Amino acid sequence: MNAPIGIIGGSGLYRMEGLALDRAVAVQTPFGEPSGPVHLGALDGIPVAFLARHGEGHRFTPSEVNYRANIWALKSLGVERLISVSAVGSLQARHRPGELRLVSQFIDKTRHRKDTFFGGGLVAHVSFAEPTCTHLSGALLATGRALSLPVEGDALYVCMEGPAFSTRAESRLHQSWGADLIGMTQVTEARLAREAELCYACIALVTDYDAWREEEEGVDATSVLEVMHANVDKAQALLRQVVPQLSGAPRACACGEALKAALFTAPETVP
Ligand code: ADE
Repeated sequence: MNAPIGIIGGSGLYRMEGLALDRAVAVQTPFGEPSGPVHLGALDGIPVAFLARHGEGHRFTPSEVNYRANIWALKSLGVERLISVSAVGSLQARHRPGELRLVSQFIDKTRHRKDTFFGGGLVAHVSFAEPTCTHLSGALLATGRALSLPVEGDALYVCMEGPAFSTRAESRLHQSWGADLIGMTQVTEARLAREAELCYACIALVTDYDAWREEEEGVDATSVLEVMHANVDKAQALLRQVVPQLSGAPRACACGEALKAALFTAPETVP
């Protein structure tokens, strides 16, 4: 079964509501094992591949997730468009817990991750000025609005290493940069998805106000999960509505040709 649409679920989204499961596949990749089996099935009749980013039972920290294996596994199952769902903290008062945002830009503060497929004799530098697929994000935004969901586009996401949350000073620094959201996973997926020539969009579900608000103590994991559980149905509704629209529609963006102008290694020496 080929699944051109992939979904990665984050904290609080470990299975896709309504996915009629065909099979769960344990994919071996040149980069090791993905976070868990990829669930192949149909969402309202449309083939979809679903993977839980942190593994079944939430066993991998953001630094431990094998992002390369996850993206490789999904690509090997035919995924061309990848929608990733993730819990995020809000760095601005206008992004409120329970709301959805579509990410268009990142600031990368990660330190301990393998975030490229290249190296070992093969050098490529993909363009990353627009790190998410504007077409896919646009379809999600339009669909979210049509469903009257609390959704906005164009969010700037700071990706930190974690697993501890930010200090107040860091939170306020990120806020002063004009960033909208903070999370621990998305930029790494976005980089690898680009190298894999996938369309990639990120539905960010706001769960907290991080640590910048004077009157609050700061965020904790229990409240992140509680807010995620209370609102994950919004992300699921958006996914269910957008998937049929994407199915069969050819990609009208450049994501599928990201490597065309990226390779530096002389072709005759490619291993
Ligand atoms: N995920 C959810 N809330 C977060 C926060 N405040 N910081 C980093 N990652 C998060």
